[in-house]
Amino acid sequence: MVEIAVMGYGTVGSGVVEVLDKHADSIAGRAKEQIRVKYILDLRDFPGSPYERSFTKSFDAILNDPDVHIVVEVMGGLHPAFDYVKKCLENGKSVVTSNKELVAAKGAELLELAQKNNLNFLFEASVGGGIPIIRPISQCLAANDVVEIAGILNGTTNFILTKMIREKTTFDDTLALAQKLGYAERNPAADVEGMDACRKICILASLAYGKHVYPEQVHTEGISQIRLEDVEYADVWGGVIKLIGQVKMMDSGKIQVIVCPMFLSRDSQLANVDDVFNGILVRGDSTGDVVFYGKGAGKFPTASAVVADVIDCVKHFKARKYLYWDEGSPDYVEDYLENH
Ligand code: HSE
Repeated sequence: MVEIAVMGYGTVGSGVVEVLDKHADSIAGRAKEQIRVKYILDLRDFPGSPYERSFTKSFDAILNDPDVHIVVEVMGGLHPAFDYVKKCLENGKSVVTSNKELVAAKGAELLELAQKNNLNFLFEASVGGGIPIIRPISQCLAANDVVEIAGILNGTTNFILTKMIREKTTFDDTLALAQKLGYAERNPAADVEGMDACRKICILASLAYGKHVYPEQVHTEGISQIRLEDVEYADVWGGVIKLIGQVKMMDSGKIQVIVCPMFLSRDSQLANVDDVFNGILVRGDSTGDVVFYGKGAGKFPTASAVVADVIDCVKHFKARKYLYWDEGSPDYVEDYLENH
C-alpha cells in the first residue's frame, strides 16, 4: 500500500481523488500497489463529502508523516505551492503537479532538487491537460533535434474563439461559460492575455532544448483584442485565428519563443483544433511532424495525466532521469521584438 496526499481540492484535485477511488482496482493492478489518499489539504470545509475523513488544513501533518511518499500538488499558483513542493522534495517525498505556473517559474530548481534527493518531480498534466506530451517529448522523441513546436495550448481561449465564430456569442458570455465548465484559470486573465499558453510553451521549450526558458523571456499577446470582425475576416480569407505558442530553433543557434494570435489557413494541421481541444505539433529532424490532439483542460482529462504520474512514481520510486533541464542562460532565447 502506498499512501499519498493531495494538496488542493479544486477542479483538478477533486478529479484526482475521484479517479483514484473509481478506478482503484485497475490502478492497483497497473501500479502493482494499492494507492490510498491519506490526506487532502484544503482550507475549505466539505461537509458530507465521502472523503471527509481525509481532509486536513495542516501542511505540516503531511510533511511530517513518514508514511506519505508521494504528494500531489494541484493548488495552482506560485505561492504557497513552491514552498510546499520544495519542502516535500527536501523531506523524501516525490511530487506530482499540474501547476504550470510553478513548473515554468521554478522547474530547473525543483528538477535539480528532486534529482539530488533521488526523488521524482513529475508534471505531465502541466501542458495539454489529458494529452501525453511531456513524456513523448522527453523520451519518445529524444533522438531528434527539435526544429519547432507549435501548439494551441489553452483550452479556454480556443473555446472562446471557436464559439465566437460558430455561434456569434460575445467574448464575455463565452468566457463565463468556460469558467462554469471548469476550463478557465482562477484568474481568467492568465488565459485571455496568453500567460497560461506562455507558461506551457516555456515548459515544452525547456524540455526540448534542455535549458530553462522563463515566461519573462517570451513575447506574449493574448486574445483580448480580437473582435468578432477579425474572426469573420479570417473566415472570408479561408482561415481561422488561433492563439499559438511557438518555439523555433533559429540559424543563430538561439531559440525564438512567442505566444500570439496567428492566422492559420484552413488546411493547416492546427486549424481544425476547436473548442476546448489542444493541438501540439512537434517537428523533429528525424520524425518530421508529429501531432498531439486531445482535451487540454477540464477535471477528468487533467486528473488522468496526474494519476498517470502517480502510478509512474509508485512504479519507479527513484528519480526518473529523463525528465531534466538546467538553468540555461538568458541569451539563449532570441529577443523577438528586437528581431522583427
Ligand atoms: N486554463 C487552462 C486552459 C486550463 O484553459 O487551457 C488547463 O491548463
